[in-house]
Amino acid sequence: MTRIAVIPGDGIGIEVTREAVLALQVAAEVSGRPLELDVLPYGADHFLKTGETLPDSALESLRGYDAILLGALGDPRVPDNRHAADILLGIRFRLDLYVNQRPVKLLADHLTPLKGRTARDIDFVVFRENTEGLYVGMGGIFKKGTADEIAIQEDVNTRKGVERIIRHAFEHARRTGRRRVLMSDKSNALTYGHDLWQRTFRQVAPDYPAIEASHMYVDALAMQMVKDPSPFEVIVTCNMFGDILSDLGAQIQGGLGLAASGNLHPGRTGMFEPVHGSAPKHAGRNVANPMGAVLSSAMLLDEVGRTDEARLLEEAVAGCVREGRTTRDLGGSLGTRDVGEEICRRVRAGRPA
Ligand code: NAD
Ligand code: IPM
Ligand code: MN
Repeated sequence: MTRIAVIPGDGIGIEVTREAVLALQVAAEVSGRPLELDVLPYGADHFLKTGETLPDSALESLRGYDAILLGALGDPRVPDNRHAADILLGIRFRLDLYVNQRPVKLLADHLTPLKGRTARDIDFVVFRENTEGLYVGMGGIFKKGTADEIAIQEDVNTRKGVERIIRHAFEHARRTGRRRVLMSDKSNALTYGHDLWQRTFRQVAPDYPAIEASHMYVDALAMQMVKDPSPFEVIVTCNMFGDILSDLGAQIQGGLGLAASGNLHPGRTGMFEPVHGSAPKHAGRNVANPMGAVLSSAMLLDEVGRTDEARLLEEAVAGCVREGRTTRDLGGSLGTRDVGEEICRRVRAGRPA
């Protein structure tokens, strides 16, 4: 029995998660393996009603699941989005999910905005450090609201934190037959924090002699991802740069609606979510693309060892994309629900490998 906690969250997160859950249920039916999905209420509505974001007891109970599926968090009724910080960053940090794995893979040539590029040119994975950097919330505001105010936001890089994400990127490359790992930082300007990334990368790389290790400053990397993304296989970077690069990566593979991610700590409960947010302007309009959520569910299935079902979901999405059975962001004319139904139909018709 596999047990999954589901947190749909806010806005389009609710709509895309609904379709992902249906696809997971159909895949489980097809494979005949039991799957339990517990839907949890945490999000803006729950916060506005109860004042509760993610209680400690809920966080503890999440550790007991095999995996967590999350939609998105963010709601205009909560101007500082503190519930999102507590829930989303709370799960990443408190479960110590130090790996944020964000694949960038072009499923059909017509989806990329890059001229002349094909699926052969766009297939890499971004490993974003997920528990440190500018996201730790250390700092403060002094003399807030006055002409003299000072805002400080610390960038925390630890030897342990930097080394474990870099090693994970190399291990992933070795396991999946990739030949290159590129580390990206801004050590020419961030001369303390990113000097640690430089030194750690140079120390770890020789442990993987079969893998080519290289480096690019993040500004040059952003440029190169648009100019020619074909050399990239595995990219490893800090929390903030990984956030930005993964939206850029999402766009060159067809948009945020398709981008999937996993938040991992090998051997522990992972959390899987589309890269996109709650897109309030699209919420409740049946226009959101559920494919990012479905592909994140495929990553989840891989992680819990249900690889046949993961392939069924991926093939169903790829089939829909090839045949133009998509929402409007990908040039189709279907609604969220229709695409979800299409995906389920294809999963049902598929056979586990
Ligand atoms: P967003 O990702 O929600 O949306 C940006 C734009 O991308 C949308 O307006 C839409 O045009 C497009 N888009 C995104 N997902 C799509 C989908 N599934 N189908 C079709 N089009 C899609 O980013 P934002 O507008 O900057 O943020 C909205 C809220 O979401 C904010 O509160 C933000 O903090 C939050 N957010 C949450 C997460 C998360 O929970 N993991 C991630 C990013 C942003
Ligand atoms: C993401 C999001 C989050 C992040 C926000 C909502 C805090 O943009 O998952 O990419 O920056 O990590
Ligand atoms: Mn982001």
